Order: sequence, then structure tokens, then C-alpha cells
Amino acid sequence: MVQHGHEMPDPKPLESLDEWEDHLVDRYPDPASAPKGFKAIDPEKTKEQFRNYEADARPTVREFYRLNHTYQTLEFARNKRADFTQRNRREMTIWEALEFLNTLVDDSDPDTDLSQMDHLLQTSEHIRQDGHPRWFVMTGLIHDLGKILCLFDEPQWAVVGDTFPLGCRFSEKIVFPKFFEANPDSQKPDLQTENGIYEPGCGLDNVTMSWGHDEYLYHVVKDSNLPDAALYMIRYHSFYPWHREEAYTHLTNEKDRENLEWVRKFNPYDLYTKSHQPPDFKQLKPYYDDLIAEFLPGKIRF
Ligand SMILES: [Fe+2]
Ligand SMILES: [Fe+2]
Repeated sequence: MVQHGHEMPDPKPLESLDEWEDHLVDRYPDPASAPKGFKAIDPEKTKEQFRNYEADARPTVREFYRLNHTYQTLEFARNKRADFTQRNRREMTIWEALEFLNTLVDDSDPDTDLSQMDHLLQTSEHIRQDGHPRWFVMTGLIHDLGKILCLFDEPQWAVVGDTFPLGCRFSEKIVFPKFFEANPDSQKPDLQTENGIYEPGCGLDNVTMSWGHDEYLYHVVKDSNLPDAALYMIRYHSFYPWHREEAYTHLTNEKDRENLEWVRKFNPYDLYTKSHQPPDFKQLKPYYDDLIAEFLPGKIRF
């Protein structure tokens, strides 16, 4: 993560993808927003104490955001989307994709952290325990499958991180906004007006988002029988500037505003359901076999 002279920046500044998510919990610690029965984060820690989250961020996290904000340009995101929406990498069932994702072991200390599949099952199990519809449980199970981008050799900054629109001004409400000064789009005046290349109220579906696991998985599953609410959760769960900070509302339309509620409903399950007890995968499998058969049966093109 430390850079010397003209060496290329480290494409993997984070020790694990979880470091980004841990930082999200630092930024949004509000235990009141966690669904009942969840392990609250540290109830002693209030939002006030976390106000200086940028200064408190680990150097690895800071470097991760620096790379993300420097290299996510409109052109980059358009090119990645054009490439990955061909879906010509692999054909896998959902279980195979989960197992494939689980081969992503990038942690310096794997004993203390849960696997990617543990996170997905903990998320979906909490959604199930709260009595939500089956499509909601299914969404919890798959919402981070797009992180297989890492296994296709995409750098961390193009897989995880808060997402944001490209082609218009970068909001000050995006974490570490200073790092956008190094983004080439910042030098293009037509991309830095409030609406940029967009019409006000055009709807997020017409907006090019920064590229990552959310947008990728949306394109993989958008033609399934998952409802719109599920697709919004998948596509915008890392769009913290919108669902937590209320930025970019001038680009949203009625459909976006209706579904924002679902994106917000999903967020606590994603952020606050980590427990150190890994789910009993074997015992849960029959339920999830049925669920997958209902929504995303057979081989899926990734
Ligand atoms: Fe995610
Ligand atoms: Fe997640």
C-alpha cells in the first residue's frame, strides 16, 4: 500500500474485502437501525464519536478509496459494463458460484474472519428469521456474489467500495471526496455540473454507476423472476451516498424513490448481522436448494 517512486500502486491495498465493510460499520454504527435481535455493534459508540471516520480509517482503507476515486471514470465504468455484461466468463449454478466465491481467501488472518459464504448465509438467515418473503431471503443469499470479479483478476477498487454516479459532479457526501481531485473526470467541465450528461429525474437506470460487484450481479440476475425490489437491493446496496446520505436525489425518478425503502430495509441485514458463529451450511442446504430452484435454477452465465 505504500508507494515508492514510479512503482505501480498496489492493486490490493486491503488485507481483505471485509476491511471495507468494517469501515462501513464504523461510519454507520447506528445500532438503532439494526433489526431486533441482532448483535448490536458497540452500543457505547454513538454517531458523534465516529464523526472523524476519515481520519480514523486504516491506511489500507484510505489507500483503497484513493485508488477507487482516482480510477473510477465514466469511460472505465462503461467499458467494464460492456465487457462483463457479455457474461462469457463462466457458467455455474448458484451453489457453484457460492463455492467459487468462497475460494476468495484474501485475508491475512483467515482464522478470525468469516468466509464470503458465511456472510451471505448470515445475511439471508436473519432475513428469513424476520419472516420476510422468500425473494428477500434469496436476495440476501446472493447479494455479494458479484465479488467473484476479484477471481476474474479485477482490482479491489473495481469490485467493492461505496458506489456513485459517473458523468456528473461527485457529491461531497461520498466518503473521502478529496480523492476525486485525481480523477480525470474532475477535469472535464461537462461532467462536473450538477446533472452532467443526465436529465434531472432521468432515473438511476439511466445513470452509469461506478463499476463493482453490485452493478455486475444486477446484470447477471436482472432477467430472473426476482422482483424489482430485489434488483434494487442488489444493484444499489453499496450506493451509500444515496441510501444513507440522500445525495443524487435529483437524478432519481418515482420508481427509484419507491424502491429506496427496500434498499434501506436490506442494509441492516448486510451491515449488522456478522456473528462469529458460522451458519450450519449442511443443515440449511435443503431449504436453500428449494429457494435457488424457485428463483435462479440451473446454470447461470457469469
Ligand atoms: Fe456488497
Ligand atoms: Fe454484503
